[in-house]
Amino acid sequence: MAKSGAEPGLAARAAALELLQAVLRRNRPLDEALAAHTGLAALEPRDRAFARLIVATTLRRLGRIDAVLAGLVERKLPSRAAMAEDILRLGVCQMLFLDTPAHAAVDTAVRLAVASGTTAQGGLVNAVLRRVAREGRERLASLPTSRNLPDWLWRSWIRAYGEAAADAIAAAHLQEPPLDLSVKNEPESWAERLGAELLPTGTLRLSRRGEDERAIADLPGFAEGAWWVQDAAAALPARLLGPVAGVRVVDLCAAPGGKTAQLAAAGARVTAIDRSAARMARLKENLARLGLEAETIVADAATWQPPEPADAVLLDAPCSATGTIRRHPDIPWLKQESDLPRLTALQDRLLEAALAMTAPGGTLVYCVCSLQPEEGPERIAALLAGGAGVRRHPIAAEEIGGLAEAVTPEGDLRTLPCHWPERGGLDGFYACRLRRSA
Ligand SMILES: C[S@@+](CC[C@H](N)C(=O)[O-])C[C@H]1O[C@@H](n2cnc3c(N)ncnc32)[C@H](O)[C@@H]1O
Repeated sequence: MAKSGAEPGLAARAAALELLQAVLRRNRPLDEALAAHTGLAALEPRDRAFARLIVATTLRRLGRIDAVLAGLVERKLPSRAAMAEDILRLGVCQMLFLDTPAHAAVDTAVRLAVASGTTAQGGLVNAVLRRVAREGRERLASLPTSRNLPDWLWRSWIRAYGEAAADAIAAAHLQEPPLDLSVKNEPESWAERLGAELLPTGTLRLSRRGEDERAIADLPGFAEGAWWVQDAAAALPARLLGPVAGVRVVDLCAAPGGKTAQLAAAGARVTAIDRSAARMARLKENLARLGLEAETIVADAATWQPPEPADAVLLDAPCSATGTIRRHPDIPWLKQESDLPRLTALQDRLLEAALAMTAPGGTLVYCVCSLQPEEGPERIAALLAGGAGVRRHPIAAEEIGGLAEAVTPEGDLRTLPCHWPERGGLDGFYACRLRRSA
């Protein structure tokens, strides 16, 4: 597509357009599209960062961007105008959310339209974006926060958490999240070296936002394997297994290995299972960098059986991942409500298998990075209703850095993106600790 060449800023916008189309038109996760984009690496670091910022912000605010555009485009654009529609979205994003001067946003958008072979749409792009420059901010201010999400998600969060919390979750998703790191040891000293805040849960939090992997790899301690990237909420489920030094832990659905690394760093003898060979290769790379060890097995966790039951099992089940929208703003546009039945059936199968791997008296922690109750408490309710020789072992706020608002009345973990707002929020995780009857 666009030969963007020497014009300043056009190359970054051309890359952003290709990435946006990969997500919205070809259902490709943004991380995958970023990794596969051959032109990005050739861009100047500043342009590369700008391309990533435009596409991530466009996805983060897509509902609002489309609502602004809907008020300005007289007729719905025909499907053949998909390219022009995406160019408009990037233009609105730049003008309303990235403070790009209107003339630069409009000019580059028109050039993109022409370079992409949609000359006929160039006039439309020009006219609409000029109106955005005049009226966009006012139109934006009149939209409620909720006007940023597919309806099914919004309704599901109102049902699960109430309107005020759903609103706070939607607002939290509008912010780029901070960078969270888990350290192998010496958290205080690494906090100082990295200029990070040490959270009460043990995670190091840096205020740097929206960085690509190359910039993260340049931070002190990366090359020597002192830490790995892991959201503060994602670091909580493994801790629910308690002290694991010397304990054999089966880590199911383990790749890319954030929780495996935590367990191995805490001295556990970990067997990590994942169905994906490619993701397991990443887990191994990560452990090698960190100088940590685990047995790794590529297998379907629903059918794999350990040689003998383990005292501790962690199941980080595949899910809709709606708890990670702040880090993956493409998720609302890639996932559908109709994905849930397939996922919940898989979660039930995996839970049953995980329980069978747990020794009598042993502990099983089930977790998902989802805000959908169907994938969390409802799976546990179904398991417990089946009379499976297992009971809940409630967690206490002290086990998770005193984060009392994240402990449910039943004693499960339920973090929300709107928790700890003054510290920069948390991903949405659900976890339940179960004890198998002796
Ligand atoms: C939420 S991610 C796990 C994240 C990981 N626990 C961590 O902390 O880095 C879910 C993983 O489940 C794996 N998976 C999905 N279905 C599986 C199955 N039936 N058996 C084993 N692994 C599976 C996927 O390949 C994916 O790596």
